[in-house]
Amino acid sequence: MLIAQISDTHIPLKGKKTYGIAPMAENLVQCIADINQQNPKPDLVLVTGDITHSGQSEEFNHAAYLLNQIKTPFYVIPGNHDDRNLLRSTFDKRSCPVEADKKIDYVIENKELRLIALDSTMLGKPGGEITKVQAQWLNEKLTEKPKQPTLIFMHHPPVNCGVLETNADGFIGKELLGDVVSSHDHIEKILCGHIHLPINTRWCGTVISTAPSLGMQLALDLTLKRESEFFLEAPAYQLHYWTQDKNLITHTVVVKPVDGPYLFENL
Ligand SMILES: [Fe+2]
Ligand SMILES: [Fe+2]
Repeated sequence: MLIAQISDTHIPLKGKKTYGIAPMAENLVQCIADINQQNPKPDLVLVTGDITHSGQSEEFNHAAYLLNQIKTPFYVIPGNHDDRNLLRSTFDKRSCPVEADKKIDYVIENKELRLIALDSTMLGKPGGEITKVQAQWLNEKLTEKPKQPTLIFMHHPPVNCGVLETNADGFIGKELLGDVVSSHDHIEKILCGHIHLPINTRWCGTVISTAPSLGMQLALDLTLKRESEFFLEAPAYQLHYWTQDKNLITHTVVVKPVDGPYLFENL
């Protein structure tokens, strides 16, 4: 099974650039073209939040128009830059299978890997949150199929990643979530975004990874002294490959022209 993950697309209004300089719509077009030509074809695509830059309905319409070019089923969850209700009303039930007036939590069934979407957003706040109700729901879902390898996907990583974004934004309820996660041993990975950098870390008996942004990469500063800044880079996404040996292998794919290929033997 092959899963593509794109995150933090920060789509602006049509004809605009994000923060006036980041060509995020063009980057998404390039990224989708790359995903569409992958062989094998991804079984599904996860879009892990901050889909729009400021949560306006015109931005959602623009993002939906672009994302609908993906030639495989795709699923969306909100990030802190999005509006949960607009996201739900913009995307149909195939991409956002939830009822109205709820956090956007759902399960993707009938695949080799079971996937559980968690909505980690808080209205009007940049940080993450998992409520007691969500933690109980997650525990019920994980208990239903303890033998099936499962992925959780959510926007905010529930751990301090040692970069300004997570350390400053915080995550309410991470202990609740951690208690549930550590009581199940079939969670292969928790796939997140928000950090605008690809990161891996062990947490509560599983692994958390974050996907890069589509071209607005966080300026890495482990001293945490600089302002929050980003660099314009080539768009990148991730491929999570569930192999026949039942290992989840994560590749980060940078979409840009390359020189090559060359044979190793000739060098
Ligand atoms: Fe973001
Ligand atoms: Fe975010």
